[in-house]
Amino acid sequence: MGDKIETLLKESRTYHPTAKTKAAAYIQDYEAEYKKSIADPEGFWSGMAKQLEWFTPWHTVLEWNYPWAKWFVGATCNITYNCLDRHVRTWRKNKVALIWVGENDQERVFTYGELARQVNRCANALKQLGLRKGDRVTIYLPKIPEQVVAMLACARIGVVHSVVYSGFSAPALASRVNDAEARLVITADVGYDRGKTIPLKPVVDEALSHCPSVEHVVVVRRQSPGWELAAPKEIDWTDWLHSQPAACEAEQLDAETPLYILYTSGTTGKPKGVVHVHGGYMVGTYATTKYVFDLKDDDVYFCVADPGWVTGHSYIVYGPLLNGATILTAEGKPDYPNPGRWWHLIERYGVSIFYTTPTAIRLLMRYGEDWPKKFDLSTLRILGSVGEPINPEAWEWFHRVTGGDKPIMDTWWQTETGAILITPLPTVPLKPGSATRPFLGIEADVVDREGNSLPPNAGGFAVIKKPWPSMMRTIYKDPERYKVYWNTIPNCYTAGDVCHKDADGYMWFMGRADDVIKVAGNRLGTAEVESALVSHPAVAEAAVIGKPHKTVGESIKAFIILKQGQTESPELIQSIKDQVKAELGKIAVPSEIDIVPSLPKTRSGKIMRRVLKAKELGQDPGDISTIEE
Ligand code: WT7
Repeated sequence: MGDKIETLLKESRTYHPTAKTKAAAYIQDYEAEYKKSIADPEGFWSGMAKQLEWFTPWHTVLEWNYPWAKWFVGATCNITYNCLDRHVRTWRKNKVALIWVGENDQERVFTYGELARQVNRCANALKQLGLRKGDRVTIYLPKIPEQVVAMLACARIGVVHSVVYSGFSAPALASRVNDAEARLVITADVGYDRGKTIPLKPVVDEALSHCPSVEHVVVVRRQSPGWELAAPKEIDWTDWLHSQPAACEAEQLDAETPLYILYTSGTTGKPKGVVHVHGGYMVGTYATTKYVFDLKDDDVYFCVADPGWVTGHSYIVYGPLLNGATILTAEGKPDYPNPGRWWHLIERYGVSIFYTTPTAIRLLMRYGEDWPKKFDLSTLRILGSVGEPINPEAWEWFHRVTGGDKPIMDTWWQTETGAILITPLPTVPLKPGSATRPFLGIEADVVDREGNSLPPNAGGFAVIKKPWPSMMRTIYKDPERYKVYWNTIPNCYTAGDVCHKDADGYMWFMGRADDVIKVAGNRLGTAEVESALVSHPAVAEAAVIGKPHKTVGESIKAFIILKQGQTESPELIQSIKDQVKAELGKIAVPSEIDIVPSLPKTRSGKIMRRVLKAKELGQDPGDISTIEE
C-alpha cells in the first residue's frame, strides 16, 4: 500500500523546464507549434524537408492511398548526401562526426571528411563486387565503426542494408539472410562482451551453409594474427577498401527507394522485415533528432544503443549525422569494467546529450549513487530514454544523479514508425513515467477496439491517426502483414501498445497489448521463443509469457509439456535453454521454465497466454468461457 501511494505521488509530480533549458531550445512554445503543425501536417513536414537537400524537388508531399503512403512524390535524394556531403562542403568537414570507444578503451575518431572517405571507399568496393541498386546486403557486425560505414556505403549506391544484431545465433541470422536474399554478408571475426571474446565468423559460417543467395563474405578482422579466410568468397575488409578511390557520388534515388530492411518480432510467425525508404525516413529522423534533443553544433551526443536495433539506425547513425552532430558510441556494457563506465565517458568526452534505456538505468541504480557522484557530469543538458516504459523511480533516480535540472525525453516509438512519435521536447513540462505528448505533425489518440476516442484516464489502444514521413512502407515480401497495422482499428495505425491519456493529454504507455515481450527493451515474439523451445527433441508443446522484472522490465517464463517418456531434470532444463540460445540467441532464453501436464487452450486450439499470465501473477484471468479444459 505504501508503495502504491508513493508511486501515485511521484506520478503526479510535474517538472518544468529551467530557464537555461528554455533559453537554448529551438521550440519555445510546444502547444502553439503543435497546433500549427497538425492543422497542416503536410506543410509542417515539407517545411522540415526543405531544410535538407534534394536533387530534384517533389511535386506532391503525400500520396495517401490507404494504407499505402508515398511521401515527397517525384523527388530524388540520397540520405547519405545529407549525412555527409552537405557537411563536408562546409567547416564541418573537419568536425568530429563519430567517436568510438572500444571495451578496452581503444579510441577511434572520424571527422565528417574521414567518414565520407571511408563510406565512399566502401561504396566503391560494393560496386566492384557487382552490387547494384536494389540488391540486399546483410550486416552482421558488433558495435564497431565499420557497421556505420557499411550501412552508409550501401545507402550511398541504393543498396538495401539489413543489419542483424550480432547477438543473434546462426539460425536466426540465416532466416534473415534468406528472407532478404542477401548477396553479401559483412561480418567480423569476433566481438567483445564484458572482457570475453565472442566469435562471430563461425556463426556466419554455420548460417551460410543454408544461405544460397550469398556470393561473398567480407570480414573485419580485429584479432591478430588474422582469422583464416577462404578466398575468393571471403574477403578481408581492409584489403577490400584499400585500393578503392575515396570519392563516390551519391546515387540520385527516387524518394521512395528502400533504404533498409530491419527485422523485428511480431505476435505470430517469423520476424517481420520492416522496410524504410530514403526520403520520408530522412525527414522524420532529421526533424525528431533536432527538436527532441535540441541538437546544436557544439553538442556531444551519446546514444548507448547498438546499430543492430532501430534506435541505433535512427539515433546513432541517420538522425544525428543528418544534423551534423558529434556522436559518441561505445562498445560494451554499462557496468563493465565497472558501473562508472558511462558516467566516465560522459566526463571524458564532455557529453551534453545522453540517450539511454530504462533497463540500463535500473541496472545502474542497483550500484548506487556513489558511482555517478564520482564523475563530473556538468556538461549534460538533455537526457533521453527509450525502449520500454520508464517507471517513475528510475526516472527520478536518473534525474537526480545527473544534477536534478536536466529534462528527460521519454521517447516512445517503434521499429515500424522509424522515428520518435510520442515524446516531450525540452520545454514541455515533464511527468515522470509519461512519454507526454505527440511530436510535431503527429496526431495520436487512445481508443477502444472500434476506434472511439476514450475519455481521460481510461486504458485503451495507442493509435496514430494520420500517416507520417518515416512510417514503414511495407513488410518485406509480406504486404498482407503490413496492412494489419492499419486494419486492426478502423482508420488509424495501431501500435500494439496499451496506454491511457490523462486530463492534460499526456500519454502513459503501459506495455504491449499483444504477445510481444520486451526484455531489456528488446522485442521478442512469444511465437519465436515457443518455436525454439519445441525444436528441442524432449519438448512436445510450449507457451511463453512476459513477467514483470525489476531490472529488465520483463523476463521470459516458459511453460512446457514434455514428450512421453521424458522426465524433468536440471540437465534437461539446461539443455532446453541451450537449444533456445542456439536457435535465437542469448536474449531469448527464458529465465524460468515450468514443466506442466497441459496448457490452457481455446476450442480452436490457440494457447491462452493471458490465462497463464494471470495465474502466474495471481490475477483474475478474466473471461475464460472459451477455454477447452
Ligand atoms: C515497442 C517498440 C523505439 C525504439 C526501440 C524499441 C515499447 C518503446 C517506449 C517508451 C513505453 C516504449 C513499445 C513499442 N516502447 N519506447 N518510451 N515508453 N514503451 O523499438 O523494438 O520496435 O519496440 O517498444 O511497446 O511498441 P521496438
